[in-house]
Amino acid sequence: MKKITVPEILAMKAGGIKIPVLTAYDYTMATILSRAGVPVLLVGDSVGMVSAGYETTLPVSMRDMLYHTRSVARGAGPALVVADMCFGSYQCSLPGAVKNAVRLLKAGAGAVKLEGGVSAAHIIKAVTNMDIPVMGHIGLTPQSVHRMGGFKVQGKSESSRKALLEDAEAVERAGAFALVIEGVPEDLAGEITAALTIPSIGIGAGPLCDGQVLVINDMIGLTASDKTPSFVKKYLDMNSLVTEAARSFMDEVRSSAFPAEEHTYKQGRREG
Ligand code: KIV
Repeated sequence: MKKITVPEILAMKAGGIKIPVLTAYDYTMATILSRAGVPVLLVGDSVGMVSAGYETTLPVSMRDMLYHTRSVARGAGPALVVADMCFGSYQCSLPGAVKNAVRLLKAGAGAVKLEGGVSAAHIIKAVTNMDIPVMGHIGLTPQSVHRMGGFKVQGKSESSRKALLEDAEAVERAGAFALVIEGVPEDLAGEITAALTIPSIGIGAGPLCDGQVLVINDMIGLTASDKTPSFVKKYLDMNSLVTEAARSFMDEVRSSAFPAEEHTYKQGRREG
């Protein structure tokens, strides 16, 4: 099985081929998505909000990320696995950042993602200097939720547009192979995309990016809350499907319709 490589992702931008990315947090979903042909699976720290029910991504630990990265890597097939560096795993020291990136690669990732622009460029440089491919992440960066005062669209003012363009250029200069642009107006995402040679992967950033990423649970409607952000397209309504299945199961258990003959092991009879 030939893995999708970082140079192939870069070539997609050069060839004008859009790049679809989905998050995955476990073996089964990674297997399904890779069989469907998704080229890049992101083990996002969004796992903390989606699977663990945290209100932010901040409590997610390296232990969590290593567990989910190993699970996804086992099912990823040819897909490139990008593992998020969680809050606190790269901000405290450069050796610490490199060490944690190494741990994610040993767990099966082919690249890591970390948040921040100009302020994170030295970290991206240190990690890429170790030949570990880095995906940057700017705009609405969830690990900066407290500075932003919530999960808010960024780049609305002239000064913040300028700062985001500088962030994007700093991430590219530092050696990242791709850049997630989250929660910014579409024209700004388009301007950033045009300024970069590395692919931009948008989420809530409009259609002008080189690729798009969605949180898998949002995309298939498998969420605890009915509210999904307006940039999400729900391709399935898993909440309703699971609710209906659970209700049918309960009805059939209560009426003894389940288990039927075909779901039941029989005692082997001794002949003679
Ligand atoms: O954690 C995550 O899933 C992400 C994507 C939404 C880009 O960072």
